[in-house]
Amino acid sequence: MNLAILTSGGDAPGMNAAIRAFVRRGLADGHKIWGIPRGFEGLVHGKPMRLTAASVANILMTGGTILRTSRFTAFHQSMVRSRAAESLTRWHLDGLAIIGGNGSLAGARALSQIGVPVIGIPASIDNDIAGTDYSIGFDTAMNNIVASIDKIRDTASAHERIFVVQVMGNRCGTLAIASGLACGAEAIIIPERVTNWDAIARRLRATYARGKRHSFIIVAEGAGDAPSVALDIGQRTGHEAKWVVLGHTQRGGPPSALDRIRAALFASHAVELLTSGQHGLITGWKNSVVQAAPLSDVVDGFTRPPLLWQDLAEILAR
Ligand code: F6P
Repeated sequence: MNLAILTSGGDAPGMNAAIRAFVRRGLADGHKIWGIPRGFEGLVHGKPMRLTAASVANILMTGGTILRTSRFTAFHQSMVRSRAAESLTRWHLDGLAIIGGNGSLAGARALSQIGVPVIGIPASIDNDIAGTDYSIGFDTAMNNIVASIDKIRDTASAHERIFVVQVMGNRCGTLAIASGLACGAEAIIIPERVTNWDAIARRLRATYARGKRHSFIIVAEGAGDAPSVALDIGQRTGHEAKWVVLGHTQRGGPPSALDRIRAALFASHAVELLTSGQHGLITGWKNSVVQAAPLSDVVDGFTRPPLLWQDLAEILAR
């Protein structure tokens, strides 16, 4: 078969590991493998490139995506999606794997609905994709945040400051909660829950009264912006509050071992599904094994962040 792969939306560490696994697993099973540069835009305006075992050498340990990516808003138009489907026919491609987050998987479903044999591979540092407990990139991003906060802690402690750290997650607080629990944050602000600022200020004042020399508030970007939170919390507590926006540093760097392993498992599964005639699905992680789920469950579904972890982080930081 002629199998193709593309990466779409925000990049996530581990996308390259997934491309490598898709290519090498496909070649091992006797298929020809093609890469579509620049995501959905490449399906409409670009052309595929043949991928060999050598094309994916030395990418396992790199962040970003060798296929590059784009946020291609024109793909919301059905006429544009039809042109993408025509490209696949013209290029004689028998199946397509799409690596990306919620927006990309919605595009995958739309292609599937017009007859394109598609498998989605979940990749997003937000870990907010329904139908899978894990999306590639989350573990690396969480570790990037933890490494940054561990450094900030030294200076925070030296000056006895509060630090407000803004992390990614525009619609989902999972990344903020997990990294907050891992860093011993005093408070975690997420879009899914109303924040009681008075209670946080009271807790921080008590923390300093007990002799603690620093405190951290983690804010998911969808729940507020670090400069305003720092100003407000500084006034409420009477303590100096500084802020840091970690931004795209969270998404870069070498993927963690976990992300490389999940990427290998998901991409290999994607080859198995496409070559056995199964499509309109995502591969993903459920109950500690790789499992497929219908793309429609992903697009119409929703995820809940681990709110109990958020409560626990706040208890443990007292
Ligand atoms: O969806 C993944 C994500 O990293 C979000 O957490 C973030 O809001 C967004 O992408 C940023 O996208 P961009 O790199 O296009 O600014």
